[in-house]
Amino acid sequence: MRLDHAGNIVILTGAGVSAESGLSTFRDSGGLWENHDPMTIATPEAFARDPGLVYRFYNARRLQLNEVDANPAHRAIARLQREHRGDVFLVTQNVDDLHERGGSSQVCHMHGELRSAWCLACGSRYATREAFDAATACERCAGRGGLRPDIVWFGEMPYEMDLIERKLAACDLFIAIGTSGTVYPAAGFVRGARAFGAYTIEVNRDSSETSSVFHQHRVGLAGELVGELVEEILVQPPST
Ligand code: APR
Repeated sequence: MRLDHAGNIVILTGAGVSAESGLSTFRDSGGLWENHDPMTIATPEAFARDPGLVYRFYNARRLQLNEVDANPAHRAIARLQREHRGDVFLVTQNVDDLHERGGSSQVCHMHGELRSAWCLACGSRYATREAFDAATACERCAGRGGLRPDIVWFGEMPYEMDLIERKLAACDLFIAIGTSGTVYPAAGFVRGARAFGAYTIEVNRDSSETSSVFHQHRVGLAGELVGELVEEILVQPPST
């Protein structure tokens, strides 16, 4: 496919797009799941069993956001969203806010966001940069004991799936950046896009579980490769 002829684009990102900003991935050596059993942290049952451990895990990751910043991959994606003449739909598995800090205004956080609190007592979700736990009063209803991290845990339904599926059906270019392709439904997006005729490109430092499904696999660091890919897409086709 001539990338400068791409119309509607869907970009899926994973932890690898934020790795060069200094945020740990999940399954690389030294990753978050190497030091924590996800089943004791990232499930509703874990939160019910040991809320303190879960609050501490997400509070530490939320506060770490104050020490990192967007990297060239985030900024290149934001540039594509600004300058591409077609639709660019960015869906991320990441719960950090580095896409926004890299200049993206439309970001679909299918797994939720670290900088959002969800009050189970009143149903409100609101932005916060602070640590919180069971003793913290909800900013909306002032109730205590109802706040949980606004993160989609294993066994819960990711956000915006209807919108994501509509975008996959309408895109002619699907790009996955920095994801291991191990967690569904995100890992299945490439097959969905291909079924609708999209050309598919993977950008990853290594191979992923779904590398063989992509038309093209660009091996390397997102901070270096994403900018080049965006350049290829944005170059204006010769006027015919
Ligand atoms: N550039 C490009 N790719 C990179 C880089 C980099 N600098 N660093 C790491 N990667 C790649 C790794 O090779 C790996 O394939 O990023 C991927 C990170 O994979 P994971 O750690 O599994 O992260 P992710 O795919 O986002 O995990 C998906 O699993 O635990 C759940 O909810 C969590 O959203 C997360 C989901």
